[in-house]
Amino acid sequence: MDAEFWDERYGSRDQLFSGNPNGVLVTEAADLPPGRALDLGCGEGGDALWLARRGWRVTGVDISEVALRRAAASAADVADRTAWTRADLTAEPPPAGPFDLVTAQYFPLPVRPDHAALRRLLAAVAPGGTLLFVGHDLADVPSRVDGVDPRSFYQPAQIAELLDADWHVLVNETRPRTAPAPPGTHHANDTILRAHRR
Ligand SMILES: C[S@@+](CC[C@H](N)C(=O)[O-])C[C@H]1O[C@@H](n2cnc3c(N)ncnc32)[C@H](O)[C@@H]1O
Repeated sequence: MDAEFWDERYGSRDQLFSGNPNGVLVTEAADLPPGRALDLGCGEGGDALWLARRGWRVTGVDISEVALRRAAASAADVADRTAWTRADLTAEPPPAGPFDLVTAQYFPLPVRPDHAALRRLLAAVAPGGTLLFVGHDLADVPSRVDGVDPRSFYQPAQIAELLDADWHVLVNETRPRTAPAPPGTHHANDTILRAHRR
């Protein structure tokens, strides 16, 4: 699942995702005071734009140039509060922070024994800031998706186990989706980690 894979996936349709913010982001971030946010695997920017329109300064990061071009094209009204960065977050560090909110919605980060990429992303959260990491419940996902075992990506509950005493876990649960599943999928439930960095 490299840049070519994602560019092809986005390029196969005029618009891949709904453009609406993800339900868990709306639920969990609505009560946060606007600050600096980092959206990991931001795709076409639905979440980043929702945050920016609520006053956040948002950096969206994605491996796909195609997706980022679409995000930037939709951001004319909040161009002064949005930035778009192309990076492969498995190998490259996230943009310089720290950020008051780091959100990852259905972002496929491969599990590695040293957790190096994950730790770089956790380090982007400012003291006092929030980490929101959301995935699909594996019970709703086939054993292979696009030739890849979905269990090879970090699940929110796994990340919760890796957090040290610097963190306070506020939410670590599985919850029914509030929005319809993306076409062609059977996603019924989300897995959610919300943690506060002390
Ligand atoms: C399932 S999509 C979710 C997009 C968006 N968060 C949403 O909920 O609509 C996963 C996104 O992660 C991006 N992505 C996958 N691997 C990545 C990587 N190694 N570094 C940065 N972005 C990556 C993909 O290009 C894609 O936009």
